[in-house]
Amino acid sequence: MERTREMTSIGADWDKFYSAEISSKTPFFSRDGRLYDCLFAQQLNRELLERLFKTAGDLREITQKKEGADFVSSLLSHKRGMLYFVQPSTRTFLSFLNACHILGIKTSEIRDTSTSSEVKGETPEDTVRTFSSYVDLIIMRHPAPGFVEKTAWLMNRTGRPVPIINGGSGKDQHPTQALLDMYTLYRSFNGSVDGRKIVMVGDLKRGRTVRSLSYLMKNYKNISLAFVSPKEFKMEPDILEFLNKHSISFIETEDFGSVMGDADAIYMTRIQDEHDKTGESKKVDYSPFYFKKEHLKILKKNCVIMHPLPRRHEIEPAVDEDPRAMYWRQERNGMWARAALIAHIFGVDSKIR
Ligand code: NCD
Repeated sequence: MERTREMTSIGADWDKFYSAEISSKTPFFSRDGRLYDCLFAQQLNRELLERLFKTAGDLREITQKKEGADFVSSLLSHKRGMLYFVQPSTRTFLSFLNACHILGIKTSEIRDTSTSSEVKGETPEDTVRTFSSYVDLIIMRHPAPGFVEKTAWLMNRTGRPVPIINGGSGKDQHPTQALLDMYTLYRSFNGSVDGRKIVMVGDLKRGRTVRSLSYLMKNYKNISLAFVSPKEFKMEPDILEFLNKHSISFIETEDFGSVMGDADAIYMTRIQDEHDKTGESKKVDYSPFYFKKEHLKILKKNCVIMHPLPRRHEIEPAVDEDPRAMYWRQERNGMWARAALIAHIFGVDSKIR
């Protein structure tokens, strides 16, 4: 993966680069016609999404048999990956770890800055640069929005760049969650996502999953969105502007009941109180934004109920038995979708097909 002189000269100044339009900087994070760093949901266009969904499906099928699993795990057995997850994570961490293992990538991990030389005063940037001395891929979750992008920017300017995948950056973006969410919608609707009515519920202001998923809607035709949240935690204006710009229809409401019956998918989220500054979550009654067993009878027969998980009380466990509860399958879809993404980044997806 050779860098061109033109690419290395883009974005010499980080602050300028960070504030630039995403569309102008995406070439910096691509190589040889493929994604190199996966940082924003806006990098995932329809063609790429469907290609990744196809690879994910092929991986599922091929790896059922030992010979297939052995073949797939030989594809990247010469590569090493690093998971730098310094914010709590169960699913994203485990699904990435197992996605790496499916492809044969050997992994190492840091899950807490207190165990790295950052406690000796090393900057996070130097710490991350150190990883690239040992590994060929870095997957990161970090509490600061922009940090994962900065790492990719820095790394692309070094003599030994490695791909960076964003596993969640502050309350900003979670592109691979959006990828697996869209994969779940795609599978649930047998490939026909166009024209669907999608309801997103909860703390939309601070939930990075709903932000990234909203960006992906531009790839599909005639989607209608309903954003259901307490007035304190409404979807941020930058996302609404994006939807307006791309003529994606949406409504905002506090009345969950008013949009349930018409939905093709209901995407539940928990309150993101880790972002509280002055205990603002405690002042909000979140119970109108819960999905209860009694609501099942209002839903359409083929509606799917999704949740990025972890859940607290937003979905009553009794709902889990209903065939429309998709969140456990959604979780598993994440591993295959992430394996497909890594295969794409390393250019081995064509061997899987
Ligand atoms: C989400 C996250 O971390 O943003 N979880 C996940 O990645 N599956 C959602 C959440 O924590 O609420």
